[in-house]
Amino acid sequence: MRAKTVAINPMNIDGSTKTFGILGNPVHHSLSPAMHNAAFSTLELNSVYIPLPAGDLQAAVAGLSALGFSGASVTIPHKQEVIRHVDVLDPVARKIGAVNTLVFQEDENARTVVYGYNTDWMGANRALDEEIKLQGCRVLILGAGGSARAIGYGLLEAGAEIIVANRTRSRGENLAAALGCRFCPLDMLETVSADVLVNTTSVGMTPNDGEIPLSPALLPRFSVVMDIVYAPLQTRLLGEAARAGCRVVNGLAMLLYQGAAQFKLWTGTEAPVEVMRQVLDTHFS
Ligand code: ATR
Repeated sequence: MRAKTVAINPMNIDGSTKTFGILGNPVHHSLSPAMHNAAFSTLELNSVYIPLPAGDLQAAVAGLSALGFSGASVTIPHKQEVIRHVDVLDPVARKIGAVNTLVFQEDENARTVVYGYNTDWMGANRALDEEIKLQGCRVLILGAGGSARAIGYGLLEAGAEIIVANRTRSRGENLAAALGCRFCPLDMLETVSADVLVNTTSVGMTPNDGEIPLSPALLPRFSVVMDIVYAPLQTRLLGEAARAGCRVVNGLAMLLYQGAAQFKLWTGTEAPVEVMRQVLDTHFS
């Protein structure tokens, strides 16, 4: 069944409307306002989500706090630095070293407390969990940047076993050491046995649509292949993986479910994921 999209009506904003937004620089390209406003409207929550372009992060977080904002997403380039402006940091976000979600709550003395979470890993876990049981599952992660780090810690939370492979050996070995897992150089991938492959590199992203981060000959050994690249939606990796008989998860799934996890943290309510998915699908189709 196709979900109904609901446009936000600014005339409904009143003195009790809860305010949320996305802190980043730039933020004009973000799909989060469309995704979260559609979710608020669908559940008839008196809430609104706006872009918050922010250069001075400290001033921006203090400003949101002072203005009674209920929550915010945090994106590039502020995900690491924002940790210094959080009062209570979620333990997994601390390990990852990045926060993409703020929750503002008043304490018993009416002082605003800023909570910091990372929902990127929750998004990746939920997207994969739809295809395979993560507990005990062996996952090969390609890449060793911020996304690999978030997904790696998240998979450890879910009880998966991880192997990291990366072009730059030192960077890959550092992440593997932090995660307490094995590192594999890219030219040794045929020695790896894993159930799931997750590509966190930008290989295959527009305009390099023809590129693939590993030899297609290796794909039949994986049951599930996930690509966090979402432009294009169907990367060469996912096309070859589907041809090799793997179940595939595209980059929109992680984007969607990290947003759904934010929505739950802010509202305490399960997000209407079909409506949010439709917003993303409409944009990318
Ligand atoms: P993010 O924060 O999104 O993870 P990042 O920190 O820039 O982004 O990390 C990008 C990852 O993609 C890195 O692991 C990078 O490998 P290096 O550590 O060797 O730079 C990987 N990557 C980018 N382009 C690549 C390419 N052409 N081939 C192989 N790996 C590539």
